[in-house]
Amino acid sequence: MKIFLDTASREVIKKWSVTGLIDGVTTNPSLLVKEDGEPKKVLTDICAMISGPVSFEVVEKDPDAVYKQAREIAACAPNVVVKIPCLQEYLPVIHRLSCEGIALNITLVFTALQALMMAKLGVAYISPFVGRWDDLGHEGVALLQELVTIKKHYGFSTQILAASLRSPLHWKQAALVGVDVVTIPPAVIEQGIKHPLTDKGVALFDADWKKAGRTQLL
Ligand code: E4P
Repeated sequence: MKIFLDTASREVIKKWSVTGLIDGVTTNPSLLVKEDGEPKKVLTDICAMISGPVSFEVVEKDPDAVYKQAREIAACAPNVVVKIPCLQEYLPVIHRLSCEGIALNITLVFTALQALMMAKLGVAYISPFVGRWDDLGHEGVALLQELVTIKKHYGFSTQILAASLRSPLHWKQAALVGVDVVTIPPAVIEQGIKHPLTDKGVALFDADWKKAGRTQLL
């Protein structure tokens, strides 16, 4: 499983990049506005810190402007992936960019049919939003399962990038259904690695070691 970090914070990316866990980064306009500096600088900084794919979303609305902006974003660094929302009016743009070899991440995917259409267009990634689908009383993880099944049926190369994962349980469920990639907020990675019994065990071993008065291990 590939793990992307769901943040635009360069400080946080720097912290996690040395762990060997992070294969890429996803950002969105809401994450980007929390950062200091020009968006282009934030993007190029992140792309220089991470060798894997870095998703950066268009903010234009008119399809022609989306096409132009997508090309501009793609030109910023070799590892940029352009995020475009899954909207009908962008189908020709997505098709064109995809044919031109621009790596795309189609975002805000909430149904199997949306995902199927985007996979047919040959995009690099589709991002089903698990948490936001849960928020409306649906089962986000069931959506992931549908996408994995459809991908298997037709052998699509598009990677399923599970997004809007809000808890370690979401992450585990995404792993169990076999998505290609997860994008995880930094706080959820921390929740995923921390366990009270691990902390307790370390404290216990340490106490026994000190009680025995040993100083040398090797
Ligand atoms: C990543 O690509 C998404 O933009 C992000 O995971 C959305 O998460 P949220 O629904 O918690 O804002």
